[in-house]
Amino acid sequence: MSDGDKTLRELVDLGSRYLDGKGIPESRNILELLAARLFSCGKLELYRVWETVPDTRIVDALRRGMTRVAKGEPVQYVLGQWDFRNLSLKVDRRCLIPRPETEQLVELVLQSPQAKAPGKPIVVDAGTGSGCIILSLAKEMRDGVFVGVDISADALAIARENAQRAGLQERVIFAESDGCGEFDPASVDILVSNPPYIPSREVDRLDPWIRDQEPRLALDGGEDGLDYYRAFINDAVMVLKPGGGLFFEIGDEQGNAVRTLLEDFGFSNVRILPDYAGKDRFALAEQVV
Ligand SMILES: C[S@@+](CC[C@H](N)C(=O)[O-])C[C@H]1O[C@@H](n2cnc3c(N)ncnc32)[C@H](O)[C@@H]1O
Repeated sequence: MSDGDKTLRELVDLGSRYLDGKGIPESRNILELLAARLFSCGKLELYRVWETVPDTRIVDALRRGMTRVAKGEPVQYVLGQWDFRNLSLKVDRRCLIPRPETEQLVELVLQSPQAKAPGKPIVVDAGTGSGCIILSLAKEMRDGVFVGVDISADALAIARENAQRAGLQERVIFAESDGCGEFDPASVDILVSNPPYIPSREVDRLDPWIRDQEPRLALDGGEDGLDYYRAFINDAVMVLKPGGGLFFEIGDEQGNAVRTLLEDFGFSNVRILPDYAGKDRFALAEQVV
């Protein structure tokens, strides 16, 4: 890009073509996201500055961001933040980038009888990553005790930063844990998780900006992708109260297998629900009363 007197519109056009040439999908969207960040506005407000000639500092920053994306870094890590429901979360290579489907998982929890019951439910997010699920629940639920656990100290560090950013540091506890079995027996009202669920051999075939950039620990669900459902369901049997709710995000081909696991472990009211694209994406169940 050679640039000194180019308008933002021209820079974004040029940059999009450059990323297209590198085989990066959604190049225009990426350039607009980078530009919006640099102008501290939303993408939809960019039209106000399209015809301005950005100063060198902005042109350089745009070029740096674009170069990182061209080398394979996800734009979310380049931006260093990403929106999830009502939160703006810090994200970097220590955590999975929150996905839109997971916003729907939060919605399913919010609409559940366990979340609407009177009192102060104990809510646990297993494999909390950036903290997106548990921080959203803490923000959007009337009351509760909110705990996010993860085996990754790196992910927990970013989750704690996100709690500070959202002003939720007094409401959410984060703890290092392998699984979610370290709660008192029959003490938890809601257990929610978006565990690693991609079969190991498929992780190796993912797009490089996922496979080589996001933590493998957040992606790899073992040989059949179901390792963490087995482990977390086993823990859930112990820690969920009678009538407590279990809420999983699942891979789109895992509905039958996760249903069978939940039924084998004695859960009731097992439901497999679709995402907005119509694909199986969530498994819900209740601990027998
Ligand atoms: C798919 S990511 C989900 C992150 C976040 N909840 C989200 O929805 O964006 C799975 C998370 O599980 C964590 N994890 C992997 N193995 C775990 C284990 N044995 N116990 C607890 N957490 C684990 C990973 O570190 C990662 O943060």
